[in-house]
Amino acid sequence: MKNSKSAQDSAVEMSELVLPNDVNLLNNLKGGRLMHWIDIAAAITASRHSNHIVATVAIDNLIFKHPVHLGEMVKLMASLESVGNTSMNIKVTVWAENLQTGKVIQTNEAHLVFVALDDDGKPTPVPRLRND
Ligand SMILES: CC(C)(COP(=O)(O)OP(=O)(O)OC[C@H]1O[C@@H](n2cnc3c(N)ncnc32)[C@H](O)[C@@H]1OP(=O)(O)O)[C@@H](O)C(=O)NCCC(=O)NCCS
Repeated sequence: MKNSKSAQDSAVEMSELVLPNDVNLLNNLKGGRLMHWIDIAAAITASRHSNHIVATVAIDNLIFKHPVHLGEMVKLMASLESVGNTSMNIKVTVWAENLQTGKVIQTNEAHLVFVALDDDGKPTPVPRLRND
């Protein structure tokens, strides 16, 4: 395991297209579907940083600022904000892009905590977060 890594080393950009199965009766993206994508993007970041299987231990904050509509593209950017001994704090920012007009708006922001797990499912240390 490396002693330290930068936030850029594990940052993740993920894109999804909002399809009919992803929306509610108003044709807006379902909150639960977005939470799933946020969890996946953050989990990849945590795994990339720790090089371990990770578990979500907390979703501290999730703000829905604007609805996302059927047919729009969702872009999620996940990056490490800080690390503890075995835990990692990750921020996920979400944008919606209208593919017909090109208009992009930030729709969500979330903060999650993940823990790296060893082969026995016990918390295990993660690399320090280097500022560079
Ligand atoms: C992840 C898990 C194994 C950790 O076990 P635990 O007994 O809480 O372990 P610890 O008390 O040693 O805590 C481990 C780290 O998590 C942090 N942590 C635990 N609960 C937390 C919470 N609610 N919020 C923020 N951090 C938390 C601790 O501060 C510690 O951080 P540090 O090592 O950086 O100091 C256990 O909580 C678990 O299995 N949770 C369920 C996970 C799950 O099913 N997630 C959904 C699917 S992925």
